[in-house]
Amino acid sequence: MNAEIDISKVILETDRLRIRPWSMEDLEDFYEYASVDGVGQMAGWNPHKSRSESQEIMNRFISHKRTFALELKKNKKVIGSIGIEEISFDLGEPYTSLKGREIGYVLSKEYWGMGLMPEAAGKVMEYCFDVSGCQFLQCSHSFENAQSKRVIEKCGFEFIQDYERTNKNGENHKSKMYVKMSPQ
Ligand SMILES: CC(C)(COP(=O)(O)OP(=O)(O)OC[C@H]1O[C@@H](n2cnc3c(N)ncnc32)[C@H](O)[C@@H]1OP(=O)(O)O)[C@@H](O)C(=O)NCCC(=O)NCCS
Repeated sequence: MNAEIDISKVILETDRLRIRPWSMEDLEDFYEYASVDGVGQMAGWNPHKSRSESQEIMNRFISHKRTFALELKKNKKVIGSIGIEEISFDLGEPYTSLKGREIGYVLSKEYWGMGLMPEAAGKVMEYCFDVSGCQFLQCSHSFENAQSKRVIEKCGFEFIQDYERTNKNGENHKSKMYVKMSPQ
């Protein structure tokens, strides 16, 4: 079952990042990275074609209260997002009876390979377990997404099973599902 999540007043910090709710001022930064070819496709969505498309999605981030913006401290730019999503694939017992969520993330192409997403995801996972009462977290990547696989490994998830995921474009992708149990 889904744990209750409301991140609208939550601010987390790591060495390099301020992990905070989205705000209306973030539109330009969001559009800048979400419109780049090869970023969203890996997470199942197409590059944004207009600021109004980014605005619509950002409005959803704000109203759903479960997606963080990742702000790089050194330049105060928003360079990615992490969502504490509702569970999209039921793994059966024991997970069905436990409180959990699914983590999803995207980072601006300019900042890939610096360990920023493992840094952010580690902090968000800590928040999910210690504050939001998640008993487990799920995370998945498509077979081809070796970069996301590395993030999942670095965050200590355990592989559970292969499954078929239908993305936002209605396409099916063979994917791998992982779980991490709360340390408590
Ligand atoms: C997946 C993603 C968030 C990784 O974030 P990150 O902060 O770059 O993560 P890391 O720095 O730990 O790098 C992870 C792996 O990416 C690969 N990588 C690093 N730099 C890269 C680059 N410039 N281009 C391609 N791959 C690169 C490396 O294999 C690295 O693993 P290693 O550290 O063992 O060498 C980022 O690549 C991304 O946003 N991808 C597009 C969206 C996406 O795939 N979301 C997840 C959907 S399941």
